[in-house]
Amino acid sequence: MYIAPSLLAADFSCLGREVDRVAAAEWLHIDVMDGCFVPNLSMGPQVVGALRDKSSQLFDVHLMLQRPMAYLEAFRKAGADLIAVHAECEDDTEELLRAIRRTGAKAGLVLKPATPAEALFPFAPLLDLAVVMTVEPGFGGQKFMADMMPKVSAIRRWIDEMNPGCELEVDGGVDPVTCKACIAAGANVLVAGSAVYKAADIPARIAELRG
Ligand code: DX5
Ligand code: ZN
Repeated sequence: MYIAPSLLAADFSCLGREVDRVAAAEWLHIDVMDGCFVPNLSMGPQVVGALRDKSSQLFDVHLMLQRPMAYLEAFRKAGADLIAVHAECEDDTEELLRAIRRTGAKAGLVLKPATPAEALFPFAPLLDLAVVMTVEPGFGGQKFMADMMPKVSAIRRWIDEMNPGCELEVDGGVDPVTCKACIAAGANVLVAGSAVYKAADIPARIAELRG
């Protein structure tokens, strides 16, 4: 079980310190938005690079970009360990996954709520991470969509059969209550923004999210 605090919920005036505060988690989730694929803007490779020396966590970079291909190398050079792209973006999925692996990073594929589990099926050998969004991408602090749990279970069954090394992540609205459904459905990586950064005792909250 890995917890991936989302930097989107951090205090952007002191990101270095905000990374230190979540050091109890194995992963750090970094949300990148282009104002086109989603109606919001966030951060780019420069921020990833500035934080790389401050943490030994796995940097899990979630690209909410309409055309991510052009930016893969920049995020890898900045320190991304894993780069995840959306199945719904405009670039070709298979080419993206192969290009991510060529940079040396692990490759992830993210599904928006309306995209069925089957969208992953052609790409089994190319995936290090599958991500089920449990909110519409674009903003932190939204309500968890419990109706995504059958999709998580279906993907868990598919991973166990086709590529047992692939991680299964849930992103959006995960808190100490909703984490239980995600774990029961078979997720082994939980992204949590607000639930981590708004907690009074962050290490205790990270422990709580492990279920
Ligand atoms: C939404 C992002 C999420 C977000 C999660 O577009 O992909 O990673 O930061 O935030 P919470 O945990 O607050 O829903
Ligand atoms: Zn995310």
